[in-house]
Amino acid sequence: MPNRLKKTLDRMISKAGSGSRSDAQKWVKQGRVRINGVIAESPDQWVDPERDRITVDGAPLRAAEPVYVLLYKPKGYLTTYSDPQGRPTVYDLIQGVGQFTGTVGRLDLDTSGLLLLTNDTALADRLMDPAWHAPKTYLVKASTRLGDAQLDRLRTGVDLDDGPTRPATVRRIRDSEKYSFIEITITEGRNRQVRRMIEALGSKVLKLVRTRFGPLEIGDLEIGKYRLLERREVTALRDLVGLKNDADQESKRKLLVPQGNRPILGGRRGRRGLRD
Ligand code: URA
Repeated sequence: MPNRLKKTLDRMISKAGSGSRSDAQKWVKQGRVRINGVIAESPDQWVDPERDRITVDGAPLRAAEPVYVLLYKPKGYLTTYSDPQGRPTVYDLIQGVGQFTGTVGRLDLDTSGLLLLTNDTALADRLMDPAWHAPKTYLVKASTRLGDAQLDRLRTGVDLDDGPTRPATVRRIRDSEKYSFIEITITEGRNRQVRRMIEALGSKVLKLVRTRFGPLEIGDLEIGKYRLLERREVTALRDLVGLKNDADQESKRKLLVPQGNRPILGGRRGRRGLRD
């Protein structure tokens, strides 16, 4: 019987940073994966990470070094590992990381901004768990001018088809003749949530950029580039969702700098402003 310690084989392989779950499924089908020396039959098999010896092409899985990637996702990139239609995905932009990381939530194809990817699954699970209310901040260009009463509706909560939204923090940045530019912070991560909230007001989102996620900020990162998180950022993120940051874990959580791919810490300012 599966228990909390056990994991399915494909999850165990992706957690070890060797590849995605779909890579693992393919490798199992190809007969390249063994559990305790016996060829694995199914990627859904339950394995015990403490006891079972998993190998891919004869090489044991290594314990993955935790890695935390902050990407400035451009518009036009899918938040998925691979696309049957061959469209660009966020993984095309982080090839230098050298370990498999999962995305923490998603940004729509037409949304740009801060996307976190990590193989720290405990952290990712909590950040995506609505119970932890991790705040996410977006800049929005609306297709109409929004009145104060409309912004108040965003603040108190609007009715969406999957239920009312939690209170949001909203700030008017400016209005042009035709458009309003606002900043909104939500503590949920429902599908297309900001777009649907603006649509509920009778307007539309023309541009959407995520600028903050919990304690993380997009800062000066260039569009399409990534950097690895600093230690203090990892600590702040784990604190946010009630995960331990004890000295032992801290030392294990060495920040990995992939060879030949220094984290990008500066560079040209990304175009994250909203212009008419
Ligand atoms: N809300 C949206 O509508 N889209 C995103 O990509 C993120 C938040």
